[in-house]
Amino acid sequence: MIYAGNFKTNHTRKSTREYLMKIQLHNHKIRANGDRVMIFPPLTAIDNYEVDFTVGVQNAYPTQNGAFTGEVGVEQLDEFGIKTILIGHSERREILGESQEFVAKKFAFFKEQGFEIIYCIGEPLEVREEGSEAVIEYLMAQFEGIDTSYDNFIVAYEPIWAIGTGRSATQKEIEETHNALKKSIDKPILYGGSVKGENISEIASIDSVDGVLVGGASLKTDTFLELVFHKN
Ligand code: PGA
Repeated sequence: MIYAGNFKTNHTRKSTREYLMKIQLHNHKIRANGDRVMIFPPLTAIDNYEVDFTVGVQNAYPTQNGAFTGEVGVEQLDEFGIKTILIGHSERREILGESQEFVAKKFAFFKEQGFEIIYCIGEPLEVREEGSEAVIEYLMAQFEGIDTSYDNFIVAYEPIWAIGTGRSATQKEIEETHNALKKSIDKPILYGGSVKGENISEIASIDSVDGVLVGGASLKTDTFLELVFHKN
């Protein structure tokens, strides 16, 4: 299983360092279990950390460098050896207004750079309420312009109505959706949306779930490690 933690706009450089060092202490055991951790801190907390798990970024601009006020490009990421990026998170699509066209442009650029890409998709509640066919149609449209044959990418299915709400999708909804996606996209698929200690065993037991992308429950090392070391 992949356990990915998305800090969003939380944590400082100091608290991120402490957090990563704590995870590092457990990483030997995590790897021995066949699992993998990936952490996405805010950009100001990126550094050359001595950890042997993945530290990635939540966002970057599709450029080496240039005149893009407020953004960072590959030159800034290279300084810290960052080679992993989240693209298409619903908060960037919805709050920051990133269109499918722009998300696809970012994907193509970071693919060209050989980055490992966690590509996020997810439907709003009104689409989920229309039923599973409408959901799959909506999700497949989020692959428009995306080269799904790219080797170095992982999909994260995160229903928007389940993010940060405490209401995760049901086991049946997750299983059905992941199974349908796997028919067209032969990549690892993470589930995200209110993953926590109480539901991790149920979610992790689904065959087509290759890992989880966690916001709220990743913010403290103990709640994150509770997920990583959950008992079936
Ligand atoms: P959540 O966020 O775990 O707080 O619901 C998940 C995400 O947005 O990646």
